[in-house]
Amino acid sequence: MAGTHTEKDKLALLGGPKAKTTPYGTGKRFNGSELQYLQQALEQNTLFYYHGQMTNRLLERFKSIIKANFAAGVSSGTAAIHVALGAGQITYGDEVILPPITDVGTVIGILAQNALPVFCDIDPDSYLMTPELTRKKLTPRTKAIIVVHLAGNSCCMEEYQKLAQENHLLLVEDCAQAWGAKFKNQRVGTFGDFGCFSLNDFKHISCGDGGIISTRYEYLYRSAHAFADKYYDRLGTGMRTPASWLGFNYRITELQSAVGLAQLEKLDQIVTRRHEFGMKFLNGISKIPGLIPQKIAPESYSSFWFTGFRVDEKTAGVTASDFAKALQAEGIEASYSYFNLLDCDLFLKRQGYRGTTFPFDFPDGRVYEYKTEDCPNASYFMKTFIKIPINEFHTDEDIEQTIWAVEKVARYYQNTK
Ligand SMILES: Cc1ncc(COP(=O)(O)O)c(C=O)c1O
Repeated sequence: MAGTHTEKDKLALLGGPKAKTTPYGTGKRFNGSELQYLQQALEQNTLFYYHGQMTNRLLERFKSIIKANFAAGVSSGTAAIHVALGAGQITYGDEVILPPITDVGTVIGILAQNALPVFCDIDPDSYLMTPELTRKKLTPRTKAIIVVHLAGNSCCMEEYQKLAQENHLLLVEDCAQAWGAKFKNQRVGTFGDFGCFSLNDFKHISCGDGGIISTRYEYLYRSAHAFADKYYDRLGTGMRTPASWLGFNYRITELQSAVGLAQLEKLDQIVTRRHEFGMKFLNGISKIPGLIPQKIAPESYSSFWFTGFRVDEKTAGVTASDFAKALQAEGIEASYSYFNLLDCDLFLKRQGYRGTTFPFDFPDGRVYEYKTEDCPNASYFMKTFIKIPINEFHTDEDIEQTIWAVEKVARYYQNTK
């Protein structure tokens, strides 16, 4: 029982000393060429992406880093995904498969195209959708798959390519959280028809808000470019032409591109550091009874937007929620659970466009209903997951103290079982 604990082992939650004895390492994110490029952008006397040079420079750099054939700048990651679907001709009544464990930005474009989201369960250990589970969700209405490389951990892309090809589906990679991640040494964002990246303020690199969409095919690039810019034909004559189809204004500005370019210059450094910390953490907790570390496939190189572990309550003697509280008391920036789109009123109450249940009640008689239980692994993940932040400014000591805190909390509950 608890009587065997030394003073050092006493949980901070119960008045013991904190495991995290020093503050987390911090640093300035915008400490490189950002200001210089912003100034250059302003000196151009235009901030329009088509007239200035910054967006071009950003995209050239992006293409050379991730080895993409084509890329377009957009206003956000959400916009990138909508553009991918619009340019890929996903429309009215089509079904699009995606995982529920993701940001709402993954699903917005589907509904905006009046298509229907079909949620596919995840592997509870990697938190990723798998090709086997995806296959089970295919119907004659399926037109696209959006894979989400959650937390910087890559999905099994060869299998997804096969699946998409066999079934004539558009394959979209949501790379918002996976800057710099690789599958079999190839950067994510280059496997599918489209790769969609976010530059929002919480991602590996940021320009405040912004996004990039990559593709291997010129025709998709042209289509994406036009869709994101009100269907103006800027790649042909460069002149405005009357809109041929419905497009949106998802343009990036030269100011966003200037900051994005400076940030891209730091990407490899940021990702290397995060990878090192993430792997160190996962190895450090790998032998603790009752904890299941995030699974990274041997073929994957994770860029660790975050990491974490699941708590097996029976073996660990504690719920994930209580484990997270104990870690927080130890001074660790841990948090319990994550986002499950199947917990949102948008789906549970089927309230997409306000004042109507369209497209969930589809005019041809189809009815789409959503329940949290539709994806049991996702629910299980939500109940058992503890998120551990990874940051390039953390120090080796931060990681060591985090591992120590996890060990300490786990040992305490093991001994009091
Ligand atoms: C997995 C995922 N997809 C899409 C998005 C949407 O990106 P943005 O916020 O740039 O629209 C996010 C952002 O949090 C995300 O994490």
